[in-house]
Amino acid sequence: MRYYSFFVACLIALLSGCKQDLTVTSPDGSIKAGLYVQAGQVGYFVKVDTTDFILPSPLGLQAKRGVLDKDFKLMGVKHASAEEEWTSPWGENKQHSDRHNELEAQFKNTDGVIMTIRMRAFDDGIGFRYEYEVPGPDTVKVMDELTCFNLASDGTSWSIPGNFGTYELEYRTLPLSQVQDANTPFTFRLPSGLHGSIHEAALYDYPEMTLSAVPDAVAPSFKSNLAPWPDGVKALVPKKFRTPWRVILITRDAPGLVNSDLILNLNEPCALEDVSWIKPMRYVGVWWGMHLGIQSWYDDGRHGATTANAMKYIDFAAANGLEGVLFEGWNDGWASWGSRDDFDFTKPAADFDFDKVVDYAASKGVSYILHHETGGNIVSYEKQLDTALDWAAAHGIHALKTGYAGGISGGNNHHGQYMVRHYQKVVEEAAKRQIMIDAHEPIKATGIRRTWPNFMCREGARGMEWNAWSAGNKPEHQTILPFTRLLGGPMDYTPGVFDITYRNIVGNPNLKAWNNNHIATDCRCNTTIAKQIADWVVLYSPMQMACDLIENYQGHPAFQFFRDFNADCDWSRALAGEVGEYIVVARRAGDIYYLGAVTDEVARTLEQPLSFLPEGCTYRAEIYADGPDASWEKNPYSYTITTQEVTSADTLTLALATSGGTAIVFKPL
Ligand code: NOJ
Ligand code: CA
Repeated sequence: MRYYSFFVACLIALLSGCKQDLTVTSPDGSIKAGLYVQAGQVGYFVKVDTTDFILPSPLGLQAKRGVLDKDFKLMGVKHASAEEEWTSPWGENKQHSDRHNELEAQFKNTDGVIMTIRMRAFDDGIGFRYEYEVPGPDTVKVMDELTCFNLASDGTSWSIPGNFGTYELEYRTLPLSQVQDANTPFTFRLPSGLHGSIHEAALYDYPEMTLSAVPDAVAPSFKSNLAPWPDGVKALVPKKFRTPWRVILITRDAPGLVNSDLILNLNEPCALEDVSWIKPMRYVGVWWGMHLGIQSWYDDGRHGATTANAMKYIDFAAANGLEGVLFEGWNDGWASWGSRDDFDFTKPAADFDFDKVVDYAASKGVSYILHHETGGNIVSYEKQLDTALDWAAAHGIHALKTGYAGGISGGNNHHGQYMVRHYQKVVEEAAKRQIMIDAHEPIKATGIRRTWPNFMCREGARGMEWNAWSAGNKPEHQTILPFTRLLGGPMDYTPGVFDITYRNIVGNPNLKAWNNNHIATDCRCNTTIAKQIADWVVLYSPMQMACDLIENYQGHPAFQFFRDFNADCDWSRALAGEVGEYIVVARRAGDIYYLGAVTDEVARTLEQPLSFLPEGCTYRAEIYADGPDASWEKNPYSYTITTQEVTSADTLTLALATSGGTAIVFKPL
C-alpha cells in the first residue's frame, strides 16, 4: 500500500510538471487571463487583482464546412513576452510602448481543425485572436462567431446600438444588464470603479463584430455578432486564416481608457517605407453651408463649390496659416446624389474650374482636400478608383475625404466583409499615390492607422452635421465620444461652429430644409462657444476642421485659438474625466501645450493641476472660457479670453458652464 501511494504521488507530480500553463498575466501582475477546455469546447476567463472580471466564456467559430468550435484537445502551449518602444509619424502620441505577455495555445479536433488562440495581457487589458487551419478546400464560410464576454458583475455602460449599416446613432447610458445589443467600443464601469471597453483591433478582410446580449444569462453576457454578407454567410476566409483581435480594455479609471495604447499595440508596424508625405493638418472647407441648407452640392443656383467661393476659402486658409481646404460638390453627379453611376471623379462641375483652384491652392501653400462621395455605389467607385486616384495624384493632391452616404452595392452591409475589403483597398491604393484618407460613413477604427498611417481619420459616429438638420447632438455627446468611439482612433467630428444658433443665416434667401426636412434655423449646436473651441483639443483628429462658414470666423477674436492650434501633436494625456460627464485633455505639439475641457449639461468647476507642464518653465496661458453668464441653452455666445503666467506648480480653476468648456494654449515664455 505504501509503495502504491508513493507511485500515485510520483505520477501526480509528473503530470502536474507536464501540465501546460494556460494562463497569461499582465507585466504588472494585475490582470490574469486564461484558457480552458471543457468537454472539447475552448473558453477563456479574465481576473483583475484575483477578482473575476470575465467569467468563463466560450470561444470558437462555426463554419459551413469543418467543425471549428468543438471536440478540441490541447496540443501545445507557448509563452512569450515583449517589451518594445515604437514611434508613429503622427497620433495623439508619437512615442509608444508595448509591454505584454503572450500565451499561444494550440488545439486540434477530430475533424483535423487546428485552432490557435493567441492571447496577450497588457497592464491595461487583454487581446486575443483566433488562428485557424482547416483541412480541405480553399475557402471556408464562417457562419458564426461564438466569442462571449460574460461579465462578472453588472455596471453602467455607454454604447450605440449594434447596427451593421451605421454608427451615426445616439449613445445610450444603460445598466449592462439592460443592453440588448451594442456596437463597439462598448464601454462600461463596474461598481468597483474598474472601467472596461470591448472592441476589436486590426480588422482586415473580416466583418465587424457587434455584441448581442445572451438571453437568460445570470450576469451580463454578450456574444459576438458578425455583420453578414447578403446570403447570410458571415465571412469568406482561406483555409488558413486569422481573425481580428478581440480586445477588452481594463483600467482603474475613465481617463485610463483614453490613455491606452493597447489597440495600436495589437496592430502591425507601419507598412509604408516613406511616410514623409503624411502630414497632419487643420482645414476649413466648402461644407457647412450645404449642411445648413444655404448652399448645395450642385448648381441649382446655390452651388457652394464655385470657383469664386473656392478662391475665397483658399485665401482665408492662407491668411490664417491653415494647411488645407476641403471642397465638396466639386464634381459631377450630385444632382441625383450618385444614383445609377452618376458620380464622376474626374469631371469637375461646370462652374468649378478645377485646374485653376488646384493651382491657386498650390501657389498659396494650401493643401487641396479632394472629396469622393460614392453614395454607397461601390461597383461604380471601384471601376473609377485607379483612374480617379491617378488623376488626383497628377494634380498634386495628397488628401482625400471619402463618403458612403447611401445603400451599399449588392445589398451589402456597410460594415460587412465586402466593405471592410473595400475601405482597405482604397487606403492601400491611396497610399501608393501618397494620398491621405479621411473616410465618412467608414468602417470602425481598429488601429490600422499604425500599419497604414495614411488612414488619418474617419467619421463613424454622429458628427457635427447632425446639428444642422436634426435635434442635434446632446450636451453629453462630446463627453462620451472620447471614452467610446475615439478609443478606436481619431474622428473627423468637424468641430468649431461659432454661429451656434445659426442666427447669421436667418432670412438668407437660399435657406432650404433638405435632410430629414429640418430647417437649420430650427436647429442649433447644443453647446457654448467655448465648448466648440475646446472640442478642437478634446476630439483628436490629425485632420482637424474648423467647420463653420469662414464669415463666422473672420474678425472673431476666439478664432485665434485655431490659428494657434497644431493638429500635429507629439504627446497627449487625458488628465481627468468621467464617461458622459466631463473630460480634461492635455496635448503637446513642439513646445506648445494645449488643454481642452468639456462638460455635459451640468455646469462644473474643476481644479486642474498643471503638473503636465515641464518643471521650471513659465508659460503664458491664453484661456478661452465660458463667460460667467454662459449657458448652452440661454447664453451660448458668452465667452472670455484671459491671459495668465503659469508654471507646472500651478493649479487652474476651470469654470465650465452647462454644456460648456475651456480651451487653453500654453506658450513658453
Ligand atoms: C455625409 C458626410 O458625413 C458629410 O461630411 C458629407 O458632407 C455628406 N455625406 C455628403 O458627402
Ligand atoms: Ca456622415
